Amino acid sequence: MKVTIFGTGYVGLVQGAVLAEMGNDVVCVDLDENKVAQLNQGHIPIYEPGLEELVTSNAKEGRLAFTTDSAEGVSHGQVIFTAVGTPPDEDGSADLKHVLAVATTIGQYMSERKIIVNKSTVPVGTADKVHATLADTLAQRGEDIPFDVVSNPEFLKEGSAVHDCMSPDRIIIGTDSEYAEEVMRELYAPFERKHGKVMVMDVRSAELTKYAANCMLATKISFINEISNLADRLGADIEAVRQGIGSDPRIGYQFIYPGAGYGGSCFPKDVQALIRTADDIGFDSLLLKAVEQRNASQKQTVVEKIFKHFGDVSGKTFALWGLAFKPNTDDIREAPARVVMEALWDAGAKIQAYDPEAMEQIQHAYGNSQSLRLCGTKESALHGADALIIMTEWQAFRAPDFELIQKELTEPVVFDGRNLYEPKRMAAKGFVYYCIGRPAL
Ligand code: UDX
Repeated sequence: MKVTIFGTGYVGLVQGAVLAEMGNDVVCVDLDENKVAQLNQGHIPIYEPGLEELVTSNAKEGRLAFTTDSAEGVSHGQVIFTAVGTPPDEDGSADLKHVLAVATTIGQYMSERKIIVNKSTVPVGTADKVHATLADTLAQRGEDIPFDVVSNPEFLKEGSAVHDCMSPDRIIIGTDSEYAEEVMRELYAPFERKHGKVMVMDVRSAELTKYAANCMLATKISFINEISNLADRLGADIEAVRQGIGSDPRIGYQFIYPGAGYGGSCFPKDVQALIRTADDIGFDSLLLKAVEQRNASQKQTVVEKIFKHFGDVSGKTFALWGLAFKPNTDDIREAPARVVMEALWDAGAKIQAYDPEAMEQIQHAYGNSQSLRLCGTKESALHGADALIIMTEWQAFRAPDFELIQKELTEPVVFDGRNLYEPKRMAAKGFVYYCIGRPAL
């Protein structure tokens, strides 16, 4: 099938590469000339396991092409995906300008029936706005060409995006058009190998499903983080509690790991956007507001523990391991590590930081500063620091050389925002060890 994808961010690029891998003829359109030139040379702008191989091999086979030419993109695809960004605007609601600009572009250039598929995470009701924008543009041209707008949200996780897109848990298709349903079922047939995964529903339910999924996951995290605060204060161990509740299949073990708060491009933005959607229709979303508040406070937890231990941190130096919002990504959007860094800088401290993938991003975000030294290895970040802070659970941090840590730090103090180590063992090794929701020994 001929497919066009507008937007070569995480979602668009992965979707394009995966559809090409299944044998479709895919054209990806992006307005950023530099990005398109890079992609045409096989350079992938993001770190995502397996993606580079997939993009280069399919481009070589002639099934995947990148262009800045919107007219070519519109004429190519029978199905046109919109996978452009929906950044939060000032009040937290999703900004639809890119999504609607794509609708206008399609309306300007289309000359035969098209199916427009919303992959971007967009508020309930967006498909109607896309429909209206496209219909207006066609009317201005004096054309009356049929088209359908489908909602088909993406559920991929950064770090396993290719796998998630190849083997989705479910494929949500929101449409009331039999024609669009049939074409989408055909497009996704290769992904149904093991069991039926396609779920067809009305457009608004599909749009809400995406938000509901992310808000549910964010709620699980904020819930366990809330309980971890209680555990901290009540002298209980959150790791025991987590296992105790996770063993109930109705609760489950997944997404109940306490930590320094959720970050990334999805949870913070989507929780905020659904709160705004609710506000707009006069519904006060008490639960989601609490989820968001817990997360904002949670990001301060490590900072509070540092201030409590040291009092004044002015002039102190901290080693920081982990800058990405989670392992296996170089993404630092809404990363809890940034909150810690900024709070420590405000208080006059310096940071020596290391992350296996996100160094460039941090350099880009903060530039050169006297207060931040980016170190080439986790070991070199330790040298002469007053304490070690861990903010991302990269595998390589799980079994470090503890003797070296003690030797390099001026004091053997570790603040762990991801509960990587056993407090008992850390105490036995002579560390002062602070983690989340576990008693200090
Ligand atoms: C998420 C959803 O998982 C995905 O389905 C959706 O399409 C996009 O948003 P992603 O943002 O890539 O994916 O990351 P995810 O692995 O879900 O982690 C999000 C954040 O939650 C991270 O900061 C992570 O550290 C945190 N988290 C996750 C916890 O603090 N505890 C947990 O138990 C799980």
